[in-house]
Amino acid sequence: MTNHRIALIPGDGIGTEVLPPAQQVLDAVGRRHGIAFSYTSYDWSCERYLSEGAMMPEDGLDRLREADAILLGAVGYPGVPDHVSLWGLLIPIRRHFRQYVNLRPVRVFEGVDSPLRAAAAGEVDLVVVRENVEGEYSEIGGRLNQGTPEELAVQETVFTRAGVTRIVDYAFRLAAGRRGKVTSATKSNGIIHTMPFWDELVAERAAGHPGVSWDQEHIDALAAKFVLDPARFDVVVASNLFGDILSDLAAAVAGSIGIAPSGSLNPEREFPSMFEPVHGSAPDIAGRGIANPLGAIGSAALMLDHLGHPEAAHDVNEAITAVLAKTDVRTRDLGGTATTDEFTEKLLALL
Ligand code: NAD
Ligand code: IPM
Ligand code: MN
Repeated sequence: MTNHRIALIPGDGIGTEVLPPAQQVLDAVGRRHGIAFSYTSYDWSCERYLSEGAMMPEDGLDRLREADAILLGAVGYPGVPDHVSLWGLLIPIRRHFRQYVNLRPVRVFEGVDSPLRAAAAGEVDLVVVRENVEGEYSEIGGRLNQGTPEELAVQETVFTRAGVTRIVDYAFRLAAGRRGKVTSATKSNGIIHTMPFWDELVAERAAGHPGVSWDQEHIDALAAKFVLDPARFDVVVASNLFGDILSDLAAAVAGSIGIAPSGSLNPEREFPSMFEPVHGSAPDIAGRGIANPLGAIGSAALMLDHLGHPEAAHDVNEAITAVLAKTDVRTRDLGGTATTDEFTEKLLALL
């Protein structure tokens, strides 16, 4: 029996509603494959911030260090400014544990209608490889002359040779095991220092992967192509902000942001990686038990894969495919009336 220590951070809003289903799925598939999970759950959240003045304790990152992987729900809720909650919990975890790859696979499942005519089930199968620790998400900058007519805000973007190289290499390696195509998201026509540097490094790294074809698209045109012809894409590599936007767009193309999984990976395995749905805390539906748990469950499957259990991950992905293709039980985001629990029950029955 293999044992894995999993740190659970349900966080805020529907984060607390979608993690228990993911845990139930892990336990069920674990029983079948001889994998045991021991969970440590942390109540780090906006609620904690409001009562204790911090999203997590001072030694929070040290505690997480002991885990084999982290499963996170969502962070951020009205009442605490987003930049405070996110930079107090989610972003420090990604950065401290060098989770520089944010892997966001997107498929159009049979049984889920894409809002797009151009995206029939089975045709769209792409992965957004998002740079996850630098780029536009930087602490460098500031605000001056607050409250005056001369007020200004500056936010620096930081691309390092090492940071861009490693994410681009990851994308090319991933593409080599898939359909062999990388698309790089750029904006070097308008952003004249960082994006040309990004483009140069992509071209440089591409030369080392002759078996993979590649191209680059301006982010504005790329957004349009995601809508017009999403099936053309295999691996899309993008900076932190561009990847963030593209991954919600791609999830919507696949029918709902509620079904999109992600992994914040430390590929070198020096530190635990974190698995988190693409969506946020959804305050508009929180507390009603109607959130779609598939983003969290798919993230648990990515975690199983990362922990060295591809067969178990496969079983979970098959159950996701089956519940959508073979039943008409759906949460509201997919046009149904099922609650989170009813939907999870159905999926567990198929596992
Ligand atoms: P959101 O993803 O929370 O919600 C966007 C829309 O999608 C809402 O209408 C919501 O109801 C719907 N939705 C999202 N997940 C769903 C699910 N599983 N099932 C059904 N419907 C779902 O994005 P937002 O409104 O921009 O952000 C809300 C809060 O979450 C903010 O504080 C934001 O900063 C935070 N956030 C956190 C993360 C994270 O922790 N990884 C990611 C995104 C946003
Ligand atoms: C995501 C989220 C976060 C991000 C926010 C909440 C900081 O949108 O994980 O996609 O931009 O990384
Ligand atoms: Mn996002």
